[in-house]
Amino acid sequence: MRAAYIEELGPAEVIRYGEIAAPRPGPTDVLVDVLATTVNPVDTFVRSGRFPTQVDFPFVVGRDLVGMVAEAGPGVSGFRAGDRVWCNSLGHGGRQGAAAEQAVVAADRLYHLPAGVDPDAAVAAFHPAATAYLALFVHGRLRVGESVLIAGAAGNVGSALVTMAARAGARVLATAGARDAPYCAELGAAEVFDYRDPEVTGRIRRAAPSGIDLYLDTAGVNDLETTVGLLARRGRVVLLAGARTRPVLPAGELYLHDRSIVGFVISHATPDELAEAAAYLNDLLGRGALHPRGIEVFPLSATADVHARMEKGELHGRRVVLRTDLGCAG
Ligand SMILES: NC(=O)c1ccc[n+]([C@@H]2O[C@H](COP(=O)([O-])OP(=O)(O)OC[C@H]3O[C@@H](n4cnc5c(N)ncnc54)[C@H](OP(=O)(O)O)[C@@H]3O)[C@@H](O)[C@H]2O)c1
Repeated sequence: MRAAYIEELGPAEVIRYGEIAAPRPGPTDVLVDVLATTVNPVDTFVRSGRFPTQVDFPFVVGRDLVGMVAEAGPGVSGFRAGDRVWCNSLGHGGRQGAAAEQAVVAADRLYHLPAGVDPDAAVAAFHPAATAYLALFVHGRLRVGESVLIAGAAGNVGSALVTMAARAGARVLATAGARDAPYCAELGAAEVFDYRDPEVTGRIRRAAPSGIDLYLDTAGVNDLETTVGLLARRGRVVLLAGARTRPVLPAGELYLHDRSIVGFVISHATPDELAEAAAYLNDLLGRGALHPRGIEVFPLSATADVHARMEKGELHGRRVVLRTDLGCAG
């Protein structure tokens, strides 16, 4: 089969596109004919070695796929040849990746794609949307009626956070570029603040005088010195971006108000957590309530180029879908 794979960790140029041996499913695995995959920031971290994880060479890159079941192992129930399926946890932790014509997926990491859902839009949505779900509901412990501040609300993760938090009955405050304010409001943000406005902190404080219950910064600025002071009693910060930041932490303002900060990466989510997120995503996708803002479609052979463009910052938040020949034909 053809795949985008690496023989060593390194820059985008180490990704090759060519023939490697097709994988075989174990007893509790499913062999999937891949229609499409995508590229996430974390795929570049795995490829470069910046996110340390077990990779076995030749290593197929890529985390997410949409495809069709080719064959299910004898111990698998619930999946049959021809079913349209998806996965968002390949390509790390000792699992081979999704950027190939075929992929083996453990049955407990595979989900049905709801009828009528566009595979390109779906594969572009899985990673940021599952991240948003886990950040809000598992790590952020969001409850109805709470106030949530989402920084970077117009981005891939941010827009999914706004959508989900608003649907969960939270009051959503958002920061975004001024031109993105209408988009964030459309997604459900009650108030949107221009992150370039020097008065933004004061404006947020006035909009949430009792404090913010949950704060998520997808832009990875991680200005904890300011953020912690904006929190309500028992307010939480979920850190999920900005790995290289070294914020100043006002300790008294944190512990004297029972406030807390937790870190989270989707890469450590358990199969049960991922399945819970998948059920929620499938519900949103089935209702047409989850839309990537912009998609570019390329053949799978463009994987190295897309990694390079993402690392140079040339994608500006646009999602890229990489289709196999099967995906192009369908
Ligand atoms: N922890 C995890 O498991 C996990 C999973 C997925 C992604 N991530 C991380 O999440 C981050 C966001 O990913 P993404 O795909 O959502 O990126 P994205 O689509 O580029 O979104 C980032 C957004 O932040 C905005 N922004 C930039 N500077 C800002 C500031 N100072 N204040 C507020 N907003 C600002 C950008 O607006 P402009 O267009 O105006 O610049 C953009 O809309 C990345 O660092 C990624 O690695 C983490």
